Amino acid sequence: MSRINLKGQVVIVTGASSGIGEAIARRFGREGAKVILAARRIDRLETLAKEIEEMGSGAEAFALQTDLSKLEDCQTLIQRTLERFGRIDILINNAGFGRLDWLENLDPLKDIQAQFAVNAMGVIQTTRQALPAMIRQRSGHIIQMCSMAGLVGTPTYTIYSASKHAVHGFSEALRREVKPWGIDVSMVYPGGVATEFADHAGIKRKTKATTPKFMVLTAEQVADAVVSLARRPRAMRIIPWLWLFTVWLNRSLNWLVDYMTIYRFTIPEREEELKTKSRASR
Ligand SMILES: NC(=O)c1ccc[n+]([C@@H]2O[C@H](COP(=O)([O-])OP(=O)(O)OC[C@H]3O[C@@H](n4cnc5c(N)ncnc54)[C@H](OP(=O)(O)O)[C@@H]3O)[C@@H](O)[C@H]2O)c1
Repeated sequence: MSRINLKGQVVIVTGASSGIGEAIARRFGREGAKVILAARRIDRLETLAKEIEEMGSGAEAFALQTDLSKLEDCQTLIQRTLERFGRIDILINNAGFGRLDWLENLDPLKDIQAQFAVNAMGVIQTTRQALPAMIRQRSGHIIQMCSMAGLVGTPTYTIYSASKHAVHGFSEALRREVKPWGIDVSMVYPGGVATEFADHAGIKRKTKATTPKFMVLTAEQVADAVVSLARRPRAMRIIPWLWLFTVWLNRSLNWLVDYMTIYRFTIPEREEELKTKSRASR
């Protein structure tokens, strides 16, 4: 299969105001694409748009303040893109966040509904809005920022994991719906990535159980994977590939993953938490 040239392609990147989305937008800028930057922090988007237009690659960039938890904003994002560029070649549904805590500690609205509203509904509604244009064009590529949490569930990730599993199921079904129109759907599943994600997640870990440092990616490494998917669409891309082993283990020997997770993480964390609470009540 030949590599797709990205110069001049109309690319929407959601969540472009920081981390992975920002790095993706920069990479497409260097390729000379027409990049639409969507997120809530418009000041950051405008600074990035200026940077992209000054890259000298012939890229164009357009910042659009968008709250993806709102249907009308998902609609406006697609309408304004079509008004300005007349087509959509690539939609990258990247925006998302996690609130990582025991389920009983999560706020029903601010943590649970809000995560679903952006991570799952935002992706579904934006894709739904973009689809008629792609069908008319008989071409298009939808790239979904999933997560290892969309394949393997771990404690304190319940809602985040559910939202990413939703994106996985949605995208797999959609891929099989839209292929006859010349539309591809690719999914990327990173493990840990060093971004602002952790700052917003409210992690209150008391033990040292965490992803090994050598497995933690930079936003630029994920952006490279996305650009390579844009050139050669592929159903699924797990990065780093070593996580494939965990996915296999979780499918084949679920009881072993349960045992390792519960004894390495859940019990020590819960015990530490109880100790802290009893010290505080003394
Ligand atoms: N970091 C990781 O370890 C990791 C691993 C796997 C997958 N991911 C996924 O990668 C994606 C990007 O995350 P990141 O690591 O780059 O984190 P990040 O730096 O916190 O970026 C999150 C982006 O999502 C945007 N966003 C959040 N809520 C939004 C809303 N209501 N409307 C519009 N945009 C919204 C943020 O923009 P505003 O706040 O300006 O709106 C920001 O641009 C997410 O889908 C995340 O789940 C991350």
